[in-house]
Amino acid sequence: MSDSAPMPGFPDGFTWGAATAAYQIEGATRDGGRGPSVWDTFAAQPGRIADGGTGEVACDHYHRYAEDVALMADLGIGAYRFSIAWPRIQPAGTGPANADGLAFYDRLVDELLSHGIDPVATLFHWDLPQALEDRGGWLTRDTAQRFAGYADMVAERLADRVRLWITLNEPFVHMTFGYGLGVHAPGRTEMFGAFPAAHHQLLGHGLAVAALRARGAAAVGITNNYSPVRIIGAGTTTTDTGGGAGATSTSGTSAGADPGTTSGGAELADRAARDAYHALHNRLFTDPLLGRGYPEQAPGLDLSVVRDGDLDVIAAPIDTLGVNYYNPTGVRAPEKGSPLPFELVPLAGFPRTSFDWPVVPDGLYDLLVGLRREYGAGLPPIQITENGCAYDDVVGPDGRCADPERIAYLDGHLRAVARAIDDGVDVRGYFVWSLLDNFEWAEGYTKRFGLVHVDYATQTRTPKSSFSWYRALINRR
Ligand code: BGC
Repeated sequence: MSDSAPMPGFPDGFTWGAATAAYQIEGATRDGGRGPSVWDTFAAQPGRIADGGTGEVACDHYHRYAEDVALMADLGIGAYRFSIAWPRIQPAGTGPANADGLAFYDRLVDELLSHGIDPVATLFHWDLPQALEDRGGWLTRDTAQRFAGYADMVAERLADRVRLWITLNEPFVHMTFGYGLGVHAPGRTEMFGAFPAAHHQLLGHGLAVAALRARGAAAVGITNNYSPVRIIGAGTTTTDTGGGAGATSTSGTSAGADPGTTSGGAELADRAARDAYHALHNRLFTDPLLGRGYPEQAPGLDLSVVRDGDLDVIAAPIDTLGVNYYNPTGVRAPEKGSPLPFELVPLAGFPRTSFDWPVVPDGLYDLLVGLRREYGAGLPPIQITENGCAYDDVVGPDGRCADPERIAYLDGHLRAVARAIDDGVDVRGYFVWSLLDNFEWAEGYTKRFGLVHVDYATQTRTPKSSFSWYRALINRR
């Protein structure tokens, strides 16, 4: 159950939102001239997706967007974060904009505005046109240039109405899962050789910022996935880890601790492991954005792809840093001879979601104050662009879908946000992941993250009890 103390207040003008992504909800993968994306290719390969699902139909949002916007209006959100499918705009990855593709997002944006909901558009949420992957995808520099061209086309049409642009979603996850480990599209297994996919995404971001500004974009940002890092000492419970944007304590007492101080006696080797993981997951995609270049502790950093001037492009000022948070990461020093500079260790002692992710609201507080500590005045205002959880929600015989665990999850995490704001972190908004149950990448349709239950056989939408809870929170006076 959620905490019985009243939820603290949030600043005036705080944005309440919900988020989705194109491939996860739209379906209609062949409609309106859309070309294939890397996810169409990947999902069609046997064994890639847990339940064999694909995005072909998903939530059929492409056809049902008006019904979905009506749900958002009923929920009372002030902003909706969606993503634009690049292969709808450039079906073959190059060439002029596809009119039908632009028209779909034009209709969606107008529908949102007519309900008083601010459109927040992400330009890339992992669905690269397959034709560009065939030329090397994000491992090649050319994709960064093409991304800026695509951003320009979309902005030419929508910049007058989109309130906030997010260039990329979670470049760390895309690099690691898509190009490093191969568990996401495009299924490449470059391991630490995936670094060019980081650099070219970041370069594409910087070039796109310039393109968006040139079209008069209202505000521009990027969304990163952050995971505060906790040292799990051998044979002990979690110990305090001290510094870093994500570094943290389980006790919640020393989130602001100096880098290097430890209350749990973490060994030097454990701290080196923590710093390496923190550099890879958190700093690699934040330091260069904020003008600090790449962190040298990041493993696999081969800077030969970085050309003169790239870091300046990447450090173009942004208006917002999008923060996605799901859970912290446990690490310790690796065994001797390990190819990795850290060993990942499951965090024990927390409730778990159906993804088996630990539920750690303090991790969100720690990461927010950690970002503030690490980047100081250089940190742009933050939007929490994703936070949420998967549970095995079912619609009962009474037609209701009760999800008390999700209410508790959201309640706990929002209290953590309120605490961080109280402690001086400039957080301007919060978007629940996700509005709808949807295609959860490699997990297919087996994981439900929505405030709204979707019956995929009938496409019936059933708002869950968390939907009513969130609506009451948004509407409280
Ligand atoms: C992604 C979403 C995804 C969610 C839950 C984030 O990494 O941006 O697309 O569904 O996490 O796994």
